[in-house]
Amino acid sequence: MSMARKLNVAIVGATGVVGSIMRRLIAEERGNWGEVRLIASARSAGKVLSVGDERIEVQAISPEAFDGIDIAHFDLPDDVSAEWVPVAAAKGVVVIDKSAHYRMDPDVPLVCREANPEAAAVRPKGIIANANCTTLALIPSLAALNAEFGLVSMSVASYQAASGSGKEGLEALYAQIQKLAGADKIGTELGDVRAVLGEDFNTPFGAPLALNVVPKVGGWKEDGWTSEELKVRNESRKILGLPDLKVASTCVRVPVAVGHSQVVHATFEREVTVADAHRVLAAADGVDLVDDPANMVFPMPIDSVGKGGTQIGRVRQSIDFPNSLEFFVVADNLMKGAALNSIETADLVRRELEAA
Ligand SMILES: NC(=O)c1ccc[n+]([C@@H]2O[C@H](COP(=O)([O-])OP(=O)(O)OC[C@H]3O[C@@H](n4cnc5c(N)ncnc54)[C@H](OP(=O)(O)O)[C@@H]3O)[C@@H](O)[C@H]2O)c1
Repeated sequence: MSMARKLNVAIVGATGVVGSIMRRLIAEERGNWGEVRLIASARSAGKVLSVGDERIEVQAISPEAFDGIDIAHFDLPDDVSAEWVPVAAAKGVVVIDKSAHYRMDPDVPLVCREANPEAAAVRPKGIIANANCTTLALIPSLAALNAEFGLVSMSVASYQAASGSGKEGLEALYAQIQKLAGADKIGTELGDVRAVLGEDFNTPFGAPLALNVVPKVGGWKEDGWTSEELKVRNESRKILGLPDLKVASTCVRVPVAVGHSQVVHATFEREVTVADAHRVLAAADGVDLVDDPANMVFPMPIDSVGKGGTQIGRVRQSIDFPNSLEFFVVADNLMKGAALNSIETADLVRRELEAA
């Protein structure tokens, strides 16, 4: 392509929680793009949304809505992506899809800049997938540690925010908090959240989330695993290029608005001291080492909101497993877990297309 024109970009699902962060991030690099087009369902057609100072009217999704677009960020529910990604790709649009639908397709690269940026250029279907938000929080640190020490296995427990379930999840958490805040809690209800909330607040988490934790993220799969737990395993293997990586994962929803946290027990081919790990993590792309426990410095979701990258702290060499590290990692699930990673991938594609 000649460099006579700038590439045109679309945000598909521009009205959602991820879509809203996408609009903010595109505004920050507005000069890189020609037209910015906003697409959502027919329900949102005609709404006017901001991209920085620009006010842009939302278009209903249709084949024609992709005319003239070079790169499209898809921020849609899985089934809607499944239907519309091929439509856009058939029109020659490079699609970066955040749904789960294409992630494990062998002909669709699953890209995280810190681990496998080269994979973005090999896209036989014109589709690139963006991994799940829990997986993406892990990858920058694991990629750096793997390159140095050889990652053999990991066991992960997650503490995932309500916004991981989109607008609906975030609104449900706030509605529950509001109702609980008006209740006579101590003395009468004794923390009985179900008694205060009744049956109306089981959606979308399957149980109340406020003042609770729910050890189920995603749908049930075989043998008691959830879809989210299997994603952490399968997507980590694919992005890291470690098909035999041993992974155990338990995913838990917690009453946090934004920011997914994880406790990681990672085992390497050889002994890794904290000093070794700190040296590697401090230099790693996409990793902020936030690890000064004596001064109460460690990552927390409330400090991750709006931040790029991933934050890592509480790094310890396991007492009984010298080849293993324990650490705590946090990332804004809407940023590195979704929008920021997709922006970084689009940047790789944009540079490639501009150079062609
Ligand atoms: N939230 C996270 O932390 C996170 C992280 C990584 C990946 N993801 C993935 O990103 C995607 C979007 O998630 P989200 O959390 O932003 O969801 P969300 O807040 O529920 O937003 C969904 C978006 O999809 C649009 N949409 C729904 N049905 C549609 C249809 N039939 N045709 C066209 N547009 C339709 C909605 O438009 P209307 O407003 O017009 O209905 C809205 O813009 C999902 O695949 C999710 O798995 C989310």
